[in-house]
Amino acid sequence: MSRTKGDSIVGKKPAVGAGEKGKRILCIGAGYVGGPTMAMIARKCADYTVTVVDVDAARIRAWQSDKLPIYEPGLDELVSVCRDRNLFFSEDVAGNIEQADIIFVSVNTPTKKSGHGAGRAPDLQYWEKTAREILSNAKTDKIVIEKSTLPVRTAGAMARILHSGESSVRFEVLSNPEFLAEGTAVSDLELPDRVLIGGRETDSGRHAVAELVKIYRHWVPEERILTTSVWSSELSKLAANAFLAQRVSSINSLSAVCEATGADIQEVAKAIGMDTRIGGKFLNAGIGFGGSCFKKDILHLVYLCESCGLPEAADYWRQVTEINEYQQRRFVAGILSAMFNTVAGKRVAILGFAFKPDTGDTRESPAIGICKRLLEEGADLVVSDPQALENAERDLSEWEGKVIFEKDPYKAASGSHALVVLTGWKAYEGLDFARIYDSMVRPSFVFDGPGKLNHRELHEVGFNVYPIGKTPLTRS
Ligand code: UDX
Ligand code: ADP
Repeated sequence: MSRTKGDSIVGKKPAVGAGEKGKRILCIGAGYVGGPTMAMIARKCADYTVTVVDVDAARIRAWQSDKLPIYEPGLDELVSVCRDRNLFFSEDVAGNIEQADIIFVSVNTPTKKSGHGAGRAPDLQYWEKTAREILSNAKTDKIVIEKSTLPVRTAGAMARILHSGESSVRFEVLSNPEFLAEGTAVSDLELPDRVLIGGRETDSGRHAVAELVKIYRHWVPEERILTTSVWSSELSKLAANAFLAQRVSSINSLSAVCEATGADIQEVAKAIGMDTRIGGKFLNAGIGFGGSCFKKDILHLVYLCESCGLPEAADYWRQVTEINEYQQRRFVAGILSAMFNTVAGKRVAILGFAFKPDTGDTRESPAIGICKRLLEEGADLVVSDPQALENAERDLSEWEGKVIFEKDPYKAASGSHALVVLTGWKAYEGLDFARIYDSMVRPSFVFDGPGKLNHRELHEVGFNVYPIGKTPLTRS
């Protein structure tokens, strides 16, 4: 059964008797992590009742409706199978804390914008508020699980807050970081490389870990469930994201070398990726990484290193984000230089604004900074994206009037001097570029950030083609 907007189940208790079949799971935070993860747990564990709460009432209403608050392939179907069966969405944070046996915490942990550690340290205000809410509403013992990526030792801090009251209620805090990537969240959740659970080496710690393992064992093979200490688990999440981002920055730094020397970054990536010790994944050069995790987690790692008195380690990881910024500046400089050093008054079509394909998410999308730089240069932008236009409008709101938002890439391209591809949507590979070329101003340019288009074909059509990490295909 689907719900329509406004048909709220605020405060509604899960189906009577549901608790008799199994334990009650609560997730605090109905975002990109909490929503899909709980939908998968509900789908695989019909003997548990799963409720997801959030302070954002509009977000909860969207989870209850036919238009989910996030776009993720396969998610609509997953949610519709178990919503109102053993998966519920509610605004009633306090009431649901009271009823839950197991609480996942999946609230946002952005980077601090001001104060001590601004720009590096995690902003823990939402997380701490949640810990205090759990403390004031819990009347029975609970297992509390960190799902959000948090700084190392946060579980310890959470346990201290939870045990700071007078109550005899006991909490066991576990770390269970989520490794799903947006765009492939449903398959990542269904077939995870590993599930990581960090717990204390005490009787109650081991018991809590066993409870969580029991949930995942409904569908994840035992050998893929890894149990560690809490701190190892917390650090592993930051480290995994830092390693992935580091690969992207490594290949992007080499793309600059390729452009300077005439080597081809795709050939280089293939050659190094065939070494089984290196592996071929995460070696796509592009306009740099985006998304809510990579930059934030690296900065948190940098802050952790600094806090531990390890400035050399901090500098090492900071460089990964600096190369990411450099790559975006380099891309814009390349556009300007190819277009006779000016884009002022020129219509430029932006193809793709999401930070990667198959998501509407634009958090930390390189497209934001690249578009702003082009706008500062005086370009008239037409932004196109199959899923991210609403977010793009919000991200570029200060440039209202200077940007057109157009879902149809053909309309966006028409009358433009250049196509600037910023997201590697599969659909862009199948566009009729001869038709697009006919509708554009001459000379016409393509700047292919993700490098997925057929550059030779584009050149034959008539375009001046500028891929990252390759020699441009220009026309006289
Ligand atoms: C990442 C991690 O992969 C995931 O495990 C973690 O839970 C959350 O952070 P996500 O940010 O959703 O997931 O997407 P991911 O596929 O990792 O891509 C991140 C960014 O790197 C994107 O902007 C993507 O375009 C970029 N990227 C990725 C490259 O530029 N080149 C590559 O080869 C791979
Ligand atoms: P992520 O990508 O990590 O899932 P999101 O920002 O998409 O991050 O989701 C985090 C969610 O947590 C948001 O919907 C936010 O409203 C919610 N949230 C933050 N603080 C609280 C809180 N104290 N109680 C309930 N929900 C919260």
